[in-house]
Amino acid sequence: MSKQSPFKIAFGAIFFMSICFFLYNFESIGTSLKISRPKHVENSNFTSTTIQTLAPTTVKSIKSTPTTVKKPAPKSTKKPAAVPTDRIDPKKLDVEQIEADFPMGYKNPRSWFLPLPGPNEKELLQILTAEQRELLPSFGAQAQLSQKQLDKINSFYGINREGGWQDHIESLDDDGLAPLTKWAQSYIYNHQHPASCKGKKFYILEEKAPWYGLGAAVRVIFRELELAISVGRILVLDPKNPPGGHLMSNDCGAYRGRNASLECVLEDITSCTSYATPENSVREIDIGSVPGGNKYVPPLPAVALTTYMKQTGLPTSGAFLRYWWHAQMYAYIFRPNQPTLARMVEMRTNKTLHTAVDTNVKMKDGKAKLHTVPFPLPPSTISMHIRHGDKAIEGRLISTRDYIVAAERFVLRNPILYRKRAFVTTEDPGAIAEIKRTTGINPVSTTFANLQWYWFYSNIPRFDGSPFQNLRLSENRTDAMITHIMQLWMAIECDTFVGNRNSNWNKLIDSIRCTLMDKCRAPYLDAGYSADWLHFP
Ligand SMILES: *[C@@H]1O[C@H](CO)[C@@H](O)[C@H](O)[C@H]1NC(C)=O
Ligand SMILES: *[C@@H]1O[C@H](CO)[C@@H](O)[C@H](O)[C@H]1NC(C)=O
Ligand SMILES: *[C@@H]1O[C@H](CO)[C@@H](O)[C@H](O)[C@H]1NC(C)=O
Ligand SMILES: *[C@@H]1O[C@H](CO)[C@@H](O)[C@H](O)[C@H]1NC(C)=O
Repeated sequence: MSKQSPFKIAFGAIFFMSICFFLYNFESIGTSLKISRPKHVENSNFTSTTIQTLAPTTVKSIKSTPTTVKKPAPKSTKKPAAVPTDRIDPKKLDVEQIEADFPMGYKNPRSWFLPLPGPNEKELLQILTAEQRELLPSFGAQAQLSQKQLDKINSFYGINREGGWQDHIESLDDDGLAPLTKWAQSYIYNHQHPASCKGKKFYILEEKAPWYGLGAAVRVIFRELELAISVGRILVLDPKNPPGGHLMSNDCGAYRGRNASLECVLEDITSCTSYATPENSVREIDIGSVPGGNKYVPPLPAVALTTYMKQTGLPTSGAFLRYWWHAQMYAYIFRPNQPTLARMVEMRTNKTLHTAVDTNVKMKDGKAKLHTVPFPLPPSTISMHIRHGDKAIEGRLISTRDYIVAAERFVLRNPILYRKRAFVTTEDPGAIAEIKRTTGINPVSTTFANLQWYWFYSNIPRFDGSPFQNLRLSENRTDAMITHIMQLWMAIECDTFVGNRNSNWNKLIDSIRCTLMDKCRAPYLDAGYSADWLHFP
């Protein structure tokens, strides 16, 4: 045997180990692909030994104790743990459920797949030079909203804004708006505010559905407005019996010599009210008389959007056309007037009216640490509108947990710019109680950018019932209505949206963010079923 140099032996050994390592990894890719699909899980021998799906009780215990960080184990030769007899059968869960709720069941057998400890900032700071430490404040500043974003939110609240809603809309970025928004908004506005009201024809709308809440009342009005535009009439609210009066305090319009109506808190729907007479007006429009036969979208906007869509090279669906147009209509009707905006700002900046709950920090009494809520909400805040109350009459109710799971799934899949931080609006006090004690539902918090949930909500009266039961909690209905509008405006300070569009309020949030703000490219995650809202008339 010839004598080998120790270098050659070492080199050979490293080379051999590299190949082993490569093959080992290669196989690991194969097996990890297998474990992500129950179909493979069923007929793999791998399943019966290393995949343990945790029973709900085990999941709970993980949730309540912070994930401990284990030292990397030496290359394991010990057998994988036995399958617990009370385990949940993975075949009975869909893939999403497994990923969202039982990720601990998918322990990767490779020993280096371990949670990392958090960065030890204290120790690291000591290593840095004074010069390096001087750089730090500017990094921190970049976590704040940019001046441009700040200006937009101020303008959205009417703060330092010159001009009205039309000017605000013109100032927004086309990139973040629903298609043709600037055109559609001025088209509707000009129809309702002609240069001269003389010689115009009108459609006088009286209150037809006094049992509706604000979101539905707005919808009722715009359904009539789209008919009016289609037949070339200006929509006017009946001064004697205007829609939405019951939602306000009786005397809210008195100072303008008017009866209570939605126009107490929203911009006037037209500048021509005083020109409508029995001679130039109708009080009903027959849907059959609408030219073009599209009872939802007036002819010009309908062709405008199909023309736009043709340029994308894609055909337009009827559901999309209607959803787009309704977003424009929500935006046109739902523009708070100047006094309402001023009151909203007062409420928004009232420090005791809003609470932040940091579930990362436990106080001596075991409760999470409370903070004040900044204006505006910080970047990467999720809006979560949990619609409970009387919604069960109309559709499936989505549990608070399901809303949180929808948010966590998204944040986990987009860890670089999204956080577990949300502003929650709801009529259900139970939902607020639930979020306050929820640190996270996915038991592996260390896989997110931030560990546990940070919640914002407003301290407003809540009753898990109808909008009217909620209104009765307040002495001043007008002010209560403004509180709800303020909640919607706060939702739109956010840059991710979780909701269930089987509710007018959620459709409103979805519409306003795309029309009165340029946040239409921000993700909207529906925690419910598309079938429950997509074809809603
Ligand atoms: C499981 O392993 C046994 C023994 O190693 C083998 O005979 C059998 O074919 C394997 N089953 C599957 C589904 O791979
Ligand atoms: C307000 O409503 C009452 C009762 O319907 C009516 O008599 C009155 O004229 C209305 N006021 C205005 C300003 O239209
Ligand atoms: C702020 O809100 C609280 C209720 O949380 C209320 O009692 C107080 O009057 C409000 N302050 C102002 C200035 O509106
Ligand atoms: C009710 O609230 C509105 C809006 O904030 C306010 O203008 C009005 O003065 C209040 N009415 C009473 C009686 O306090």
